[in-house]
Amino acid sequence: MDKLVIEGGVPLTGEVPISGAKNAALPLMAASLIATGTHTFANIPRLRDIRTMQALLGHMGAKCEHDGLLRIDSSDIHTLEAPYDLVKTMRASVLVLGPMVARYRKARVSLPGGCAIGARPINLHLKGLEKMGVSVELKHGYVFASADRLKGATITFDQVTVTGTENLMMAATLADGVTVLHNAAREPEVVALAEYLCKMGARIQGAGTAQITIEGVKELSPSEFTVIPDRIEAGTYLIAAGITGGNLKLTSCRPEHLEAVIQKLETAGLSIQSNGDCVEVKREGEIRSVDVKTWPFPGFPTDMQAQFMALMALGNGVSLISEQIFENRFMHVLELKRLGADIELEGRSAVVRGVSKMSGAPVMATDLRASASLVLAALAAEGVTEIHRIYHLDRGYEAIEKKLAAVGARVWRRKDNE
Ligand code: EPU
Repeated sequence: MDKLVIEGGVPLTGEVPISGAKNAALPLMAASLIATGTHTFANIPRLRDIRTMQALLGHMGAKCEHDGLLRIDSSDIHTLEAPYDLVKTMRASVLVLGPMVARYRKARVSLPGGCAIGARPINLHLKGLEKMGVSVELKHGYVFASADRLKGATITFDQVTVTGTENLMMAATLADGVTVLHNAAREPEVVALAEYLCKMGARIQGAGTAQITIEGVKELSPSEFTVIPDRIEAGTYLIAAGITGGNLKLTSCRPEHLEAVIQKLETAGLSIQSNGDCVEVKREGEIRSVDVKTWPFPGFPTDMQAQFMALMALGNGVSLISEQIFENRFMHVLELKRLGADIELEGRSAVVRGVSKMSGAPVMATDLRASASLVLAALAAEGVTEIHRIYHLDRGYEAIEKKLAAVGARVWRRKDNE
């Protein structure tokens, strides 16, 4: 297994190119199952989760080639199944459920178990499918879904769910009649998926609002699409500049997807200038402690909570960080404390009392964004930090050590026993 070794204390300066968004790429790849033929995607990041989705689509019979462009040929799908082995490695595997039901009226998908950030059930995906006429049976740890025909339905989500919205939107594209999704997720990744589905011939209105209307069509045909930039990767590098007192220019990003994050970071003392697809960020004064609550988009993203906490660990006062989306997304707290942070958990909130410095130590990555928060803390800490189990980081941050080294960080990837 690999670890990252980081010697902290260098203010980062220079340019960081932002990669395509993992959470936009995964639903697009799953959508290739809806229309037979070759789908072409540009700006797909080279990440472990992308390879897992390729393996899943390959298991089902799709042919994937990634040579700069990712081409997925879904002409010969023979296995309508997402097996346990792949779903347990990556929960986003459940995104094949909607497309399979849409095109084949049948699917067998392993139920995801618990994970490091919370229970994360898929009951809302299943309830929505049932309203569309799908029969859903749970046995042997699998969801068996089947339908003679899919019919349009009005579905109100009890809770905003990103992949739930994506799954039902995909299923509805080929249903008979109109489906209306109320309390739908408004994330940019949902909008990107809707854009691609429309390019394939789907009729979707309202993506990006809380009400999405999908008028079913007979069939879709493959097309091409460029994946949107990763707003969470961009937000993580904004904090990398802020936490080290550096000065970075992020290129190829979409500042309009980062408004809530930019606003909080400005309140925390960072200077941020957006210009077209670039964002420049620097910090000269002290880090100001500010409170934050996570919300679905356009609120402050849960996927930035851990990284923001690393910044607040060095704040000039007390910050209250409340996690509203996942009940257990605080695995990074104990590891940040190993680096000297002063954090107390109170239910779904963390009280972060800023300290003047953190110091390097061996720490363990527990999930993707928790790992990112440890990298950020390590960049600012005195001395050397070793971050173990960085396979979590490789799921979602493309070439992280190369991008960081290019802007001055002292960071090395080593084998665990080195
Ligand atoms: N929920 C239910 N029932 C459901 C679906 C969701 O109770 O059927 C609950 C969840 O347990 C959670 C909340 O609703 O408490 C929101 O979960 P959501 O379904 O929106 O999460 P997700 O779709 O599984 C996506 C991202 C996550 C991101 C969340 C929230 C992808 C592939 N994953 O997950 O990304 O944290 O939305 O924004 O898009 C990450 O990239 O590190 C990551 C975890």
